[in-house]
Amino acid sequence: SLREVLAQQLPQLPQSRERAFASALVHAGARGWLRWNAALPRLLQKPLPRRLGALQALLVLGLTQMEDLGVPAHAAVAATVDAARALGHDAQRGLVNAVLRRWLRERDALLARLDADAVSRARLPNWLLQALHADWPAYAASIINASNAEVPPTLRVNSARGSRADYLQCLAAAAIDAQAHAWIASAVTLAASLDVTRLPGWFEGSCAVQDGAAQLAASLLDAPTGARVLDACAAPGGKACHILERSAVQLTALELEPARLTRVRDNLARLRLHAELRVGDATQPATWWDGVTYTHILLDAPCSATGVLRRQPDVRLHRRASDLPALIAQQRALLDALWPLLARGGTLLYATCSILRSENAAQVAAFLAAHGDAEALPIALPAGRADGPGWQILPGEDGLDGMFYARLRKRTAC
Ligand SMILES: C[S@@+](CC[C@H](N)C(=O)[O-])C[C@H]1O[C@@H](n2cnc3c(N)ncnc32)[C@H](O)[C@@H]1O
Repeated sequence: SLREVLAQQLPQLPQSRERAFASALVHAGARGWLRWNAALPRLLQKPLPRRLGALQALLVLGLTQMEDLGVPAHAAVAATVDAARALGHDAQRGLVNAVLRRWLRERDALLARLDADAVSRARLPNWLLQALHADWPAYAASIINASNAEVPPTLRVNSARGSRADYLQCLAAAAIDAQAHAWIASAVTLAASLDVTRLPGWFEGSCAVQDGAAQLAASLLDAPTGARVLDACAAPGGKACHILERSAVQLTALELEPARLTRVRDNLARLRLHAELRVGDATQPATWWDGVTYTHILLDAPCSATGVLRRQPDVRLHRRASDLPALIAQQRALLDALWPLLARGGTLLYATCSILRSENAAQVAAFLAAHGDAEALPIALPAGRADGPGWQILPGEDGLDGMFYARLRKRTAC
């Protein structure tokens, strides 16, 4: 994913200004790929061969700079030609120059063509546009707008280390423009992106980066002090850490991927929190479970991530419609395998960052139909709407990412 590539590559740029520009450029490039890449066939005399894939990406980034980032045309063209040379495409520098200059000459007509096509207008793949129109016809336009917006990070203030009001004062003292979220008690919205290590108290664990919608999980799970909690799909640990910041619970963080569990360990250490960490497959409890039931289970399931395209714009490029059946089957297998691990009277919070009903309301409705000892508890939040047995927030609503939650309680008697 773009996030992982950037984590490896950005530290190689010496200046923070360069790192910020590179990050903004590739995020915008992923966001705009389906639009600007669609312009290339009209600008090139013949398609580029596969071996020139990097050059194609460079041309898309050239258009992105001019059209989405407001870089003056002469600077964008010159930088893109220079980059072609840096990538070893000296022989194609003339081609890069000609393509971008042709764009500038024919821009109005080409923009009109791009706007006439649904995919290049919405910057979303066709399968997703169809799914949005099927699931959320009245909201499709606002979902598309929100999915293409560039949004500054939201912070979660670590309530175990201090109050949000105090932290806002620290931000103000550091001249960092920020605002308390109107109704999510732990959330602070920054006015602009920045290098997180510049945040006051970052290394002491005063805050973490987490969208407000994800910050709702801990209060919906509502695990009290002493509760025995399982976070079944834990990495990178944002929600697990928040649950621990809220109350002194005994939390087991389970994760399939050992390398990703390291990120949970790092986040716990920075935030000065403690949990039991386990590598394991949540669909195979026999391989890792000690046989003692949990009072609270968080299942933040692997999903299409269609609710977080504004923060992870590359998801629109690597997610395929054909991924959905396997994801839906995996979510169902996780629900079925984890349900026996929940104590009677306990709560399982099912969460996804998807906006597709097949992964959300329909998934939970099918689970409830098959499990007579499960009931959905009501959810009422200031943003979003009830959808079947759960609650759906769509991207952009009250400044939040798209998230789905369902609270499932195990009946004490059938
Ligand atoms: C949506 S992410 C969880 C995000 C996390 N809860 C947070 O707030 O930071 C889903 C995670 O589940 C893990 N996962 C997928 N299948 C799993 C399985 N069968 N057992 C345990 N973890 C799994 C993935 O590797 C991924 O790290």
